[in-house]
This record gives sequence, C-alpha cells and structure tokens, in this order.
Amino acid sequence: MSHSYSDGQTLNHSSNSTFEQILESRLSRRGLLKGAAALAVAGSLPLAGCATGLRREGSLGFKGISVSTADAVRVPEGYAANVLYAWGDPVGHPSAVPAFKQDASNTADEQALQAGMHHDGIHYFPLPYGSENSANGLLVMNHEYTDDGLLHSDGFANWSAEKVRKAQNAHGCSVVEVREKGGKWEVVQPSPFARRVTARTPMRVAGPAAGSSGMKTAADPAGMTVLGTFNNCAHGYTPWGTYLTCEENWDTYFTNSGTLTADQKRNGVSPKGRGYRWEEFDERFDAGKHPNEPNRHGWVVEFDPYDPQSQPVKRTALGRFSHEGAWSATARDGRLVVYMGDDRVFEYIYKFVSRDVWNRTDRNANRNILDHGTLYVAKFSDDGSGEWIPLIHGQGKLTKDAGFADQADVLIRTRAAGDAVGATKMDRPEWIAVHPATNEVYCTLTNNSGRGGKDRPGTDRANPRVNNVFGQIIRWREAGNDPAGMKFEWDLFAIAGDPRHPDASRHGNVKGDAYGSPDGLWFDDGGLLWIQTDVSASTLNRNHYERLGNNQMLAADTRSGETRRFLTGPSSCEVTGVVMTPDARTMFVNIQHPGEAPKGRNDPQNPKAHSAWPDGAAGGRPRSATVVIRKNDGGVIGS
Ligand code: FEO
Ligand code: CA
Ligand code: CA
Repeated sequence: MSHSYSDGQTLNHSSNSTFEQILESRLSRRGLLKGAAALAVAGSLPLAGCATGLRREGSLGFKGISVSTADAVRVPEGYAANVLYAWGDPVGHPSAVPAFKQDASNTADEQALQAGMHHDGIHYFPLPYGSENSANGLLVMNHEYTDDGLLHSDGFANWSAEKVRKAQNAHGCSVVEVREKGGKWEVVQPSPFARRVTARTPMRVAGPAAGSSGMKTAADPAGMTVLGTFNNCAHGYTPWGTYLTCEENWDTYFTNSGTLTADQKRNGVSPKGRGYRWEEFDERFDAGKHPNEPNRHGWVVEFDPYDPQSQPVKRTALGRFSHEGAWSATARDGRLVVYMGDDRVFEYIYKFVSRDVWNRTDRNANRNILDHGTLYVAKFSDDGSGEWIPLIHGQGKLTKDAGFADQADVLIRTRAAGDAVGATKMDRPEWIAVHPATNEVYCTLTNNSGRGGKDRPGTDRANPRVNNVFGQIIRWREAGNDPAGMKFEWDLFAIAGDPRHPDASRHGNVKGDAYGSPDGLWFDDGGLLWIQTDVSASTLNRNHYERLGNNQMLAADTRSGETRRFLTGPSSCEVTGVVMTPDARTMFVNIQHPGEAPKGRNDPQNPKAHSAWPDGAAGGRPRSATVVIRKNDGGVIGS
C-alpha cells in the first residue's frame, strides 16, 4: 500500500529521542559491518555448501534493465514473466471455481472463492510438507486492501450489505496449489488445499491478551473469537510450515460516531474512517458503538496452509500495531525470534523471542510457540550500538501506576508501551530480511516526508534526511550473531535516491541502479537481497521521482553493495512480495494495484484510466496479480 493518505500521519507524540545525534558517529563507524563473507568467517555460524555458509552463492549474473514508464512487467534479457493468479481468478476451491467477470459483476459469494484484491506478501510451501518440491506447492499470499471503484461494476453507487460482504471477501489471504509442467506454471483447480481467508473468517485469539477485558465485545463476550483479518500487508512464515499474515492499516476501516479513546487516537482511528464504508452495514466497524472492536485487529495471524480446515489464530504475544510483516530466525539455543516493523512515520521496530525451543521433528508440537515469550522494542544509540527493551508488565515504566493494567494491556497498547520505555522513532519500518547464513538483519525504512517538519522530530543518523522522500535500508548484527541477542550494532546499508537529481542532498549512496521508497525486501538462499519499491501513485514519475520510472525490483549483492534493476512494473502499480521455489529456478512476484488512482479510488466509469494491465484491451479493468518469472534456459534466477 502506498499509504499516501494514512502512513504520513504522525500518531506518535511521545518525547522519545530520535536518531537526532546518531548520524555523524554512524558515518565514522562505516565499515563496521563488512558483509556476509567477513561475518561468516568471524562468527561461528555453520558453514555448509560453499564458502559463505549459503546453500549456493548468489551473484548478479543478469543484465540490468532501464527504468520504465511502460504499462507492462519488464524483466532482463533471457527471462520471461507470465501472469499466474490475478484478482478474481478462482482459488480452486473444491466447492466451485467461479470465473472472473471482466465487468466486476461477480457476487460476494463468488468473490469468497476467487483471488482477493491487492496482492502483497507471498510464500511458497512445497508439497508435501518437509519436501523441497520445486514443481508443486502452495502459494500463500495476502490481499491487502480493495479499490471499490474497481471491485464493483458501479463502485460505491447503490452501496449495500452485499457490496460490503464482497469487499470483505476480497481481503485476507489466498492459498493456491500451483504446479509446473515443462517450464509452465498453473493453478491447480480444484485442489483440496485451496482456501480463502477473509475479513469474515472466524479466528481464535491466543496469547496473553486472549479473553482479557480489552478484547471483549457485545458479539464476543468471551474475547476469544474475532471475525476476520484485513489490510494484510506483508507476511512471514515459521520453520514449522505455517504462514504469518500481518494486519497493517486496520485502523482505516473503522469510523467512530462517538468519542475516540486515547488508544484509538494513538493508532490512527478517525471519526470518518478512510471511506471503506463497512460500518454502514456491519456495525462493529463503528468504534464509537463498539470501542473494543479495534483492539481485536492489528495483530499477527498464524495459520497452517497444509490443513485447509485449520482455524487461523491471532497471536497476541507479538503485539498490536500497524504490522508490516513478521520474519523469523532461530536463536542459537533453538528458540524462535520474530522481527517486526510498525509502518507509520516515527514508529518502532520490534522483535519477539519465544520462551520455548521449537521442535524440529514434530511440527504439531509448535502449535503454541508464538503464545509464550517476550516482546522487545528497539533502541538505536548514537554510537552505532543498539539494544532491545523488553515490554514486560511490572518492569520499568510498564506498571499499574503508569497506567498499564496487566500484560494484556501492554500488548494491546504496544505503541504506548514503546513510548513509555523510550524506543527509537523510525522512518516507517517496512519489510525485514534476515541473511540466511550470517543472521544479519536488514530493514527498509521506506520514506518520511514529515521528519524535520514543524513540531516533528529532526534528522538523525539512521534517518539522515529531512523531508526524506527516498528512504533507506538499515541493517544490524545481533551480539554474537545470535538472533536472541539483547544488543546489536547497526549501520545503513543504503541511502536511496536519484544521483541525477538536481539537489545533491537527494542523490543517496546506492552503488548501481537508482531507486526510492524501498518496501519489499527478501534474501534468497544464495544471499542476494531483493528490493522492491512502493512509490505512491501520486508521486511516481513526477517531482523528485521524475527520473525513476514505475515501481521496480532490484537485486543487491550485500558483500559489494552493488545493486541492479531486475524488474519494472506496470503503470501506477506497487511491486511487493517475492519468493522462489527451493531450486531457485522459479520466482513469484506480486504486482499490486496496477492503475492506482493518484487520489483515492478509481472511477468505475473509466476503470482503465491509469492502467490496463494485465488483460489489456480484452480486459475490463486492471488487476493485481502474481507473476511467474523463469529464465529461458531454466537456470537459477539472478545467475
Ligand atoms: Fe502495506 Fe507498509 O506497506
Ligand atoms: Ca509501502
Ligand atoms: Ca509494504
């Protein structure tokens, strides 16, 4: 989501320090992190397969491509990109496979059996579980939000309960079985695994906040069952083969006909909402009438894609905020660590460390791993060091006297807890990627045009620019290279920008091809870092971005820092979500909201005003879609 209207709003009015004093000493410490090879040698990480400790050694073997304003997906010479699964395509549910109608006249019930809108985070789970099958597996992905101007034939006209239900059914996640034959991929229809999770799917609440007073509503007096997940941005997965879907701008779905609570204000709920209009036919979305309903959103949800009957679970131990994604690593002692960003300007970076070691031989034994553990928030210090501060009720400033009733309250009001302990305000933390051999962690800070503005925090070393329209990528190394470490060292991997910008302060320091607003971030098994951009439709190809083209994906060699453009997306899209099969010979990339209207929703009378991708002249409207990328010679992607 490009968040032109939501993520720019400052909600954090706490007096916590920013990185104000950090930049100079950061620069003086440049070279602290010397990259994968040095870390692998210096650390005691297991070295397998090749000298870097990776399964294979990735390299930038492709010819980079130019920027583009074409309404098309472009990939390097020797590669092909094909659409696999677009909004409205049948998910392949055993009960029915309703075809997409180009005039958007599919019903709400049909939408519940079709791909949702606005594809985002994605993961590939080989079939069967535990295998490395690279020709048959489950693609699980998020459908972040909807453009109701495209979702219904007549947009918001004749707004009805049916339209609200269709919109809710276009949110959530898809589980699609996919298979490859002779280099061509297809969705298996029907498949016993096919499933849609939507904004209406009942899910269990687990962890410390389950059943607490803040989670109880008129419809759920026990506070144990929530209907649905929505605004699922990025994702994660566990080593035991479950999918994590993360609730980001959940606040924008609520209105409030009464009085906003302090927590609703801290989380961005506004009286009129952002125009989804669900409250008109689903009263729980009026937070004035149902003040605890917002507390039931903003969580990480876990479900098992291998079991289509399994109930999704909201894991409250991982905290409540605008969750971008949830990326795991295993601590040296075998506990699970989950890294998470809160994507709003001046919000925080978190990690969860499980209490228990996860079981490598019995996946069922890991059913409750994410319910017990400690949530930490990051503090970055001006000398290039950092620490993780625990958010534990009764410790430090998280006491009854300070207004925190219990651990459930700390978790429901995670942002307030972060404020209280003095966490560091960041420039919109988006995706996080953990290097597969070194455990070095990278995080995109997409942009923040508010820094340095009136009554707002100024610049600092991790966020070195005022009116930061291009963003940066920060990285850190945990003490002892142990993801469960309590201290870390950090620096900036890249300051994004345009070296041809007339203002030298906008050039950035990327070595290679230019980009801005990094968002999606993923390490492949070879250690190549894939970077995806989310420049908002109102900014693309104009002003600071007039030379950078449509949103794009690049690959970076973190050892040399060299970055090369691999893909450019169609008009007014966001490129978000990337994964490969275990053999690295197929890549799946999501193209979100091609043809996004620069302001708000599209006009249903003119749905192809900004893009006709992927269906072109034959199509009725642009559609988000999963694209399959293969090398023409069948080789490893990127090689
Ligand atoms: Fe949905 Fe933070 O991007
Ligand atoms: Ca974004
Ligand atoms: Ca994102």
